[in-house]
Amino acid sequence: MTSLRALQLDDLFKFNALVFDPLTEVYHLGFFLRHLALWPELAVAATAPDGQLVGFIFGKCFNKFTDSSQLHGHVCSLTVSADYRRLSIASLLMKYFAHILDLKYAWYVDLFLRCSNQSALKLYCALGYTLRRVLLDYYPGNPEEDAYDMMMPLSVDVNGISLSQASRESVRLSSDDSDDDY
Ligand SMILES: CC(C)(COP(=O)(O)OP(=O)(O)OC[C@H]1O[C@@H](n2cnc3c(N)ncnc32)[C@H](O)[C@@H]1OP(=O)(O)O)[C@@H](O)C(=O)NCCC(=O)NCCS
Repeated sequence: MTSLRALQLDDLFKFNALVFDPLTEVYHLGFFLRHLALWPELAVAATAPDGQLVGFIFGKCFNKFTDSSQLHGHVCSLTVSADYRRLSIASLLMKYFAHILDLKYAWYVDLFLRCSNQSALKLYCALGYTLRRVLLDYYPGNPEEDAYDMMMPLSVDVNGISLSQASRESVRLSSDDSDDDY
């Protein structure tokens, strides 16, 4: 049975097998450390019965503007070991992440994914996420790749007001709006 626990600093020495997946977002060490320090409750590990790290999620929670009604969460990275996929582990991690945000009265949760990442797209659609917009050339490379920006209202947003931001337009983000914002 899979268990969830807090992602800890020494997990960073154990997760190479997970982050070598080409679709897993990898950040520099300072980014991980800052997130673990600022939002430890939003950094969660999934472990197998033998203690092996088989997946993780981490993200952040912030106000986009000074208005506190804009408090929302953002998933920075989600991954599950190839040997443990299609066992609902990602769904479990995503639901737990949303639950923690609910406890903070956050209005919605959002995330970015590569447009080519069909597995993740199906996962997020199954969980109730909506396409908000397309981020042109968001992922660097040759060629660059567009990202889907998806969001889901949380419990406090009973009328789905945050969904009114789901314009579905295509935009090019400034570096200030990127996930890697430190
Ligand atoms: C995407 C990923 C996180 C899914 O993890 P997972 O634990 O296998 O997902 P779940 O078992 O919770 O899947 C839930 C649902 O998502 C959809 N789904 C997940 N993986 C899928 C796949 N490979 N093909 C089609 N649908 C898929 C299915 O609807 C699935 O439900 P089902 O198994 O009852 O059909 C995993 O494949 C992964 O780590 N990929 C590499 C990293 C990545 O892409 N991260 C997301 C970046 S934004």
